[in-house]
Amino acid sequence: MIKYIEETVDYLKGRGFDAPEIGIILGTGLGQLLDDITILQEVSYNHIPNFPTATVEFHKGKLIYGRLEGKKVVVMQGRFHLYEGYTLQDITFPVRIMEKLGIKTLLVSNAAGAINLNFKKGDLMLIKDHINLQGSSPLAFKGVAKLGERFTDMSSPYDVKVNTALKTIANTHGITLHEGVYASVVGPQLETRAEYRMLKIIGADAVGMSTVPEVIVANHLNLKVAAVSVLTDECDPDNLEPISIPDILDAAARAEPHMVVLFKELIKTL
Ligand code: HPA
Repeated sequence: MIKYIEETVDYLKGRGFDAPEIGIILGTGLGQLLDDITILQEVSYNHIPNFPTATVEFHKGKLIYGRLEGKKVVVMQGRFHLYEGYTLQDITFPVRIMEKLGIKTLLVSNAAGAINLNFKKGDLMLIKDHINLQGSSPLAFKGVAKLGERFTDMSSPYDVKVNTALKTIANTHGITLHEGVYASVVGPQLETRAEYRMLKIIGADAVGMSTVPEVIVANHLNLKVAAVSVLTDECDPDNLEPISIPDILDAAARAEPHMVVLFKELIKTL
């Protein structure tokens, strides 16, 4: 993996990705942030050596380098999911690349279903902890110890100071920001009623199909991490309605302006 990382980093440095400070993974519900970024370089994932190629139709699949609120940022427009058939190592390869380019902080957004029924569709949830239900680890491979501590500590995977800053920003701007535990499943099928009940019992407030692999690798690399979910549906096992993907995208779009404010204001403080 080290050889691949070096090759990819050399390529991106050659394309002008010069010492970004912050990495951002734009999941569902954060696309509009791009409007505020002064884009200096962008490369389609398909052109980046050793990158997985983008498949999910909602995502355009580009790595962007630019300035946001005076900071140099590298942005993943579109992420990779386990359910697309990649390995956990593939999905998290871009995090290793962003770290080698120089980032110290990783910011992540995603769409998730609300397990905690006090949370409503369209609300945002700050992830304070997670449960990995994807069945394996992105660190479970030969040679991982050459890239960082194999037995990575996960006692505080989300940066407490960054989370406090996000809560303050939400308060100041009148944005509802819940705090909770995110459980990651493989997908792509949604959950059964019995699975939603189980998720609640084990302590999840929200469920989604991403983020945890990237956060594990970011911790492996000692990056500061913050992640925010847009809650796109309410997962009430006793009143479950068939899920609608257009509804999910619509809820994500409605929450987007709030997510953009949170991330922009946060970046000013980093
Ligand atoms: N389950 C899993 N992933 C999701 C959901 C859900 O209910 N909503 C949005 N992403």
